[in-house]
Amino acid sequence: MLRILCLMVLLAAPAAAQNLDSLLARMTLDEKLGQLNLLSADGKASQQQMQLVRAGRLGGLFNVIGAENTTAAQRVAMTDARLKIPLLFGLDVIHGYRTIFPIPLGEASAFDPDAAEATARAAGQEAAAFGINWTYAPMVDIARDPRWGRIAEGSGEDPYLGSQLAAARVRGFQQTIFATAKHFAGYGAAEAGREYNETEISQRTMREIYLPPFKAAVDAGVASLMSAFNDNAGIPSSGNAWLTDTVLRREWRFKGFVVSDWTSVAELINHGVAGSQAEAGRRALTAGVDMDMQSTIYADSLAALVRSNRIPMRVVDSAVMRILRAKKRLGLFQDPYRAKTAPANADLRALARRVAGESIVLLKNDSGRGAACCAPTLPLSANAGPIAVIGPLADNKEEPLGPWHTQGQASDVVTVLQGIKAKVGAGTQVLYAQGAGFEDTSTAGFADAVAAARQAKVAILVLGERGDMSGEAASRSELGLPGVQEQLLEAVAATGTPVVLVLMNGRPLILPWASDHVPAIVETWFLGVEAGNATTDVLFGDVNPSGRLPVTFPRVLGQIPIYYNHRNTGRPPDPNNHYTSKYLDVPVTPRYPFGFGLSYTTFSYGNLKLSSARARASDTVTATVTVTNTGSREGTEVVQLYVRDEVASVSPRVRQLEAFTRVTLKPGESRAVSLRVPLRNLAFYGLDMKPVVEPGTFRVFVGPNSTEGLEATFECIR
Ligand code: NOJ
Repeated sequence: MLRILCLMVLLAAPAAAQNLDSLLARMTLDEKLGQLNLLSADGKASQQQMQLVRAGRLGGLFNVIGAENTTAAQRVAMTDARLKIPLLFGLDVIHGYRTIFPIPLGEASAFDPDAAEATARAAGQEAAAFGINWTYAPMVDIARDPRWGRIAEGSGEDPYLGSQLAAARVRGFQQTIFATAKHFAGYGAAEAGREYNETEISQRTMREIYLPPFKAAVDAGVASLMSAFNDNAGIPSSGNAWLTDTVLRREWRFKGFVVSDWTSVAELINHGVAGSQAEAGRRALTAGVDMDMQSTIYADSLAALVRSNRIPMRVVDSAVMRILRAKKRLGLFQDPYRAKTAPANADLRALARRVAGESIVLLKNDSGRGAACCAPTLPLSANAGPIAVIGPLADNKEEPLGPWHTQGQASDVVTVLQGIKAKVGAGTQVLYAQGAGFEDTSTAGFADAVAAARQAKVAILVLGERGDMSGEAASRSELGLPGVQEQLLEAVAATGTPVVLVLMNGRPLILPWASDHVPAIVETWFLGVEAGNATTDVLFGDVNPSGRLPVTFPRVLGQIPIYYNHRNTGRPPDPNNHYTSKYLDVPVTPRYPFGFGLSYTTFSYGNLKLSSARARASDTVTATVTVTNTGSREGTEVVQLYVRDEVASVSPRVRQLEAFTRVTLKPGESRAVSLRVPLRNLAFYGLDMKPVVEPGTFRVFVGPNSTEGLEATFECIR
């Protein structure tokens, strides 16, 4: 009798009081598979989903919006369900919840992990106030092809920068909610930049280029990874045991859980590696994908396979335990509702404005009068009116939010026109003309734009993409300005009024005419709610631009894929030798290289010294360089250090970023800047596919971008 009483008490006790092993022991197979089941709600859980929660057949929900709705669903889990296991509430909090920060690619331009950590922390805190406890970010896919729309969601092409930002964002989010490093792995290598396309990544390139940001996220303690949609050389990522078991769990000792991408378990059927739902589920689960997002295959089709031993119960149990442990680690058993307060709106806006300012890249700043004698076009003076503000993005409140803005509201956005008007005040005339819509074929609006430009001292054209032209399922085959925007630019430039081109876009655009003819070009990406203020801060010099490109800008489409950390080839380009690696019709160099960005001041580099001329693979070499602000304004330089392994058993990359730092200097000020390079970071995958730092000469470059810099060498000795 006493035993029965104890059992009854145990069953009724909240899971918090219990140990996870005993909880698992009491779960039915359906309840176990239920923990592995994740469904999307449409703002709030449907009656049917509530029923699944009640029956213990759902481990989490995503896209439940608002504290009232998350609380209602959690209450069902905690009161009506037999075992009272709390739900995870996921959401794509990519670059903000309500307060939208710059898109990740834009923010990567700041080369500022502290800023990335701060915005992730703020976004996590804001989301948590609405009951969200798990985000599907950071997206850490390396992307070398700007046709791929999801390049907007990541940190660009470089594994080192990508790793620093991945770790920073994980740290930021996980102060309040769980993060998810996605999409594991190689999704960004979609052939021809076509979304969801197959990838063909060698194991070496996978390990050296695509995997490091995931490893950095794992080392930073990320709670979950999301398995990708793509296949690599025929192995779909959501059924790839090498990735999700061998590398992730055995090599990296990842203790969190893997969630599939949306129906990527069911898509194993389309990939042709499974003939039925049950086979697809078996392949994914046994490969190490713990949670099935949206396919409902684990919950609906796997029980029979487990009962017939075609899936061992221990595989199910391991997956369930990973989910339960995550819930425990998040504190959900103690506090399932996790009421949090969002940071103050003023603080969020201030952060958004500061980071947006840092994310802007000044690509070009000539006088516009064809002579070196005259001052550059930017910064503008507030009383230099009239100012013409032109273009489909000039007064647009929706698009600066970018492709994936969760609960962001257009009404929260400050447009460039609004920002400029607020800056210059009533004393300066600001003339506005839209000129054309995004994809217009008509030039009917040009006349107003041209008239405005004619009356003005300067014309600011705000052109680019619609927010949804990048992001998921938004590959483009042409990377120019959509519609008649390019003609609008040319028509306005033809007035002779100096033109400033402000770009808003989610990827590198290819704009040869603008690069050759427009005196000033400002890349603002999609900056979020403070877009207009941050852009204005830069246009008028209240903020001196310090952003640097996290991705190469090609000259023409045919150069893609183009990235700075390529190998030398056996026939590196030589203008005097026909039979070398180049094009007949275009230089091999990019339009704007990785790491490039201008400032309103200038910097010089001198006196590069390495801490030692000889070092062992276990040592750290420190490079010290004197950076001087040689201009007349305070400014921030992003000092970048690249390394080239001169001779190795596997052809080395011509340069690889290994360190960077931001330094702010007053006019005339010099500072000795030190950058550390632990030699173990220089390892590559050798002929035996093991990481190795081979003895020999390493060349160090320290400078303002991936194509310039002072050089020094050191020897790696045994
Ligand atoms: C599909 C996307 O690929 C992924 O990034 C996202 O997290 C899920 N949908 C959930 O919305």
